[in-house]
Amino acid sequence: MLTTTLGSLTLRNPVLSASGTFGSGWEGRLFADLRQVGALVSKTVTVAPRPGNPPPRIHETASGMLNSIGLENHGADHFLAETLPRMRELAADSGVRVIVNIGGESVGEFVQLAERFSAAGVDALEVNLSCPNVQEGRLLFSTDPRLTEAAVRAVKRAASVPVFAKLSPNVTDIVAIARAAEQGGADGLTAINTLIGMAIDWRRRRPVLARGIGGLSGPAIKPVALRMVYECARSVRIPVIGVGGVRSAQDVLEFVCAGASAVQVGTAQFTDPALMVRIVGELRTLLAAAGTTIRALRGSALPGAAPQELRA
Ligand SMILES: Cc1cc2nc3c(=O)[nH]c(=O)nc-3n(C[C@H](O)[C@H](O)[C@H](O)COP(=O)(O)O)c2cc1C
Repeated sequence: MLTTTLGSLTLRNPVLSASGTFGSGWEGRLFADLRQVGALVSKTVTVAPRPGNPPPRIHETASGMLNSIGLENHGADHFLAETLPRMRELAADSGVRVIVNIGGESVGEFVQLAERFSAAGVDALEVNLSCPNVQEGRLLFSTDPRLTEAAVRAVKRAASVPVFAKLSPNVTDIVAIARAAEQGGADGLTAINTLIGMAIDWRRRRPVLARGIGGLSGPAIKPVALRMVYECARSVRIPVIGVGGVRSAQDVLEFVCAGASAVQVGTAQFTDPALMVRIVGELRTLLAAAGTTIRALRGSALPGAAPQELRA
């Protein structure tokens, strides 16, 4: 009932963690039985360690959150030695998939990471395209179809596991980027990353975040994410993973109807670290009551989809 596929990767349910919002999963193991989820997605790993941006770098907004963490992480060596074994330990014998999210500042860095993590036997790679390309004036991979296609193609060549391209919503035409990623050989798309925003402290007459701007996430962005998943799903043939503002099983099913094959849970876990597991249980109840499955519902709100009778 809950089984879904992302290219050649089968997941026993469509609920995944969103990169950067849940550590590696290890941190949350005391709050919930994470062996119930479909997959754990790591925070973005870069070749070298990154200190991230100075604080304040998190700010609560109406129905959301702004962050400017700046891809803080300990780098690939540390991830391979310390974090990946813990993710594997959590996933062991449970069917949970381990997906590593990678970030590069050049195509060469993406290739290096793809080679190392493929060799380490992860289940799939998620390519964080919201990274500046230092060889192209720090233009973000995610905002340019040519850079997106080049990065995805290079990762695909270097990788021996499925590759999902994570798209940014901060573009005029997400379909052009989605098609470029598909053209580059992506096995799937993840949509969306955070929306650029800011908060101002009027008494100090300054932005709240030290870096000025940050990425908006949480329920506030769900309608935007749904729209973008819908647009991507009707424009490409590869599977789409929906992410943005998910808080409940209902939210998951809305993304599935918009064309998502799986859904990631991010910001909502900050207030409820057991949320993913609860959503899996609620999905089972809702689908059983409606007499349907994730596969049958997928894309059912897209134009031209066959009409469906639900029991409830
Ligand atoms: C604190 C924080 C850190 C994040 N770090 C990453 C990251 O390292 N890599 C990445 O691809 N996305 C990162 N994201 C984006 C999330 O994975 C997700 O795409 C976004 O937050 C939208 O989902 P949500 O509304 O459910 O949080 C981060 C989001 C937050 C809130």
